[in-house]
This record gives sequence, structure tokens and C-alpha cells, in this order.
Amino acid sequence: MDRSNLAGPRPAEPLTRLADRLRTARRISVLTGAGISAASGVPTFRGEDGLWRNYRPEELATVRAFDRDPALLWEWYGWRRDTIARCSPNAAHEVLARWSRSGDRTTVVTQNVDDLHLKAGTERLVRLHGSIWEVSCSIGCCAEGRRGWRDERVPMPGVPRCPHCDAPARPAVVWFGEMLAEADLRAAVQATVCDVFLTVGTSSVVYPAAGLVEQANANGAFTAEINAEATPATAVVDLAIHAAAEVVLPEIDRLL
Ligand code: OAD
Repeated sequence: MDRSNLAGPRPAEPLTRLADRLRTARRISVLTGAGISAASGVPTFRGEDGLWRNYRPEELATVRAFDRDPALLWEWYGWRRDTIARCSPNAAHEVLARWSRSGDRTTVVTQNVDDLHLKAGTERLVRLHGSIWEVSCSIGCCAEGRRGWRDERVPMPGVPRCPHCDAPARPAVVWFGEMLAEADLRAAVQATVCDVFLTVGTSSVVYPAAGLVEQANANGAFTAEINAEATPATAVVDLAIHAAAEVVLPEIDRLL
């Protein structure tokens, strides 16, 4: 396995190797995480800037935390929404959006809820963890409300209510312990059948997303990681480039 390091100049060889693979690939899949939006100003989850009032995401992003204190949850999401509303896609989002629009060989699967891939114009995007700009009813038996709706208010005035049953509404994102939407999971698993699978800007610790790169390996794909630091995926991929996505992806794009 090749490793290129964040510190110091990157040898051109790993980039050339990856570009060669991408050039001849019939199917390319890219899994992204919070690191791809870091240069846009969106805080990552596990970096120091990702902590909000000393809570870890695993403590807050759960149904139990919402049921206990919906106002606290909406404060956290309000903080994230305020920040994301001021952010624009960066060079890494732009490259992937361009690849997705030139033919249909590239599929982007994201864990991000910031919708920056959509803003960049990415086609056929799979949003595994939902969108922070959508909300849904928090009560399981409210069939109308469970379908969710778009709500882009910033700032969010307190806890929004379901228009159908008046129960507290929740962010329409996937929390720890919840199932991913079946269609999204199916599309993500299908994306592991490809010639090149890239994992970009993710700590590769949250499943099932973190398992996709191994599935791609098992399906015979050439796998590569582009991330600021080593992760559990580093030991799994054929090529690891440890550098900023917004620098590396445009460099690779220029080599294509
Ligand atoms: P994390 O915050 O766990 O990881 C972000 C990764 O991006 C880290 O490994 C960073 O080193 C790396 N990184 C930071 N800046 C970068 C840059 N400019 N270029 C490349 N890499 C960079 O975020 P995720 O892996 O996305 O789930 O987290 C996965 C899930 O955990 C999230 O979707 C969310 C969270 O809890 C739910 O809310 C269900």
C-alpha cells in the first residue's frame, strides 16, 4: 500500500497512480464525510472544533437525547444550521460534482447532512444520513409527519412543531441506533460494485458507511483514501493519500 503524508510535499506518484485508475474506470464511487466540508467552514464531528459545549456527537445524536431535551437538541442543530447556512461548496465538492455530471459513471455517497454536494450540483447523490435542512415529526405514529418536509429557517425559532399532529418536530437526519433509509443503503451497497472506490474526508468509524470500502475491496475495486490523517480505512485501501481533500481532488482532476 502507498501512503502519502499530509506534512511535507506529496510525491506525485500516488496521485498519478490514482488518476490512471480513474481514467480507465467504468464505474467510480466516492464516499464522503465531514472532512470534505471542513474547508468550507463546516465543523467536523471528531475534531476539536466539532465539540459543542463538550458534548460528543454520540451523546446528542440519539432519539433518547431528543426525547429527554428537544430544546437542547434544537440548540445544537440550530448552531450547526447557522454555521452551514454561511458555507459554500469548496474545490473538492466542485470536482466531484463535475465528475458526476460528465456521464453517469460516478456515484457520490455522502454521510454529510450539509447539502453542500447538492449545492455544488452533484447528480445521483446518495445522502446516507439525511439532510439538516429537512425535518420530520418525532412521533412514530404520525404517518404524514414522518414523511418530513423542508425547513430552511435560520435561526430556528425554538422547537418546531409537526403541522399534522403538533408534536415536536426533529431534524430528518439519521441518529445513532437508527436504521438508514432502505433505498439509500441499497444504493450505497450497489455503489461498492465499481472499478474505483474513494473514501474522502471521513474518520471511517461510523457504520454501516465505514464498511463500504471493505465491501468495495471484496468486490474487486481499486480502493483509495483521501483524508487528513490515517483512519481504520488506511489499513484496508490499496492507496492512502493523507492530505486535504480540497487540494488533492483538484490535483487529481488536473491529471485526468
Ligand atoms: P468525522 O468528524 O468523524 O471525521 C472527519 C475526518 O475528516 C477526520 O478523519 C479528519 O482527519 C478528516 N479531515 C478534516 N479536514 C479534512 C480535509 N480538509 N480534507 C480531508 N480530510 C479532512 O466525520 P465523519 O467521518 O463524516 O453521523 O463522521 C461520520 C458520522 O459521524 C457523521 O455522518 C455523523 C457523525 O456522528 C451521524 O450524525 C449519524
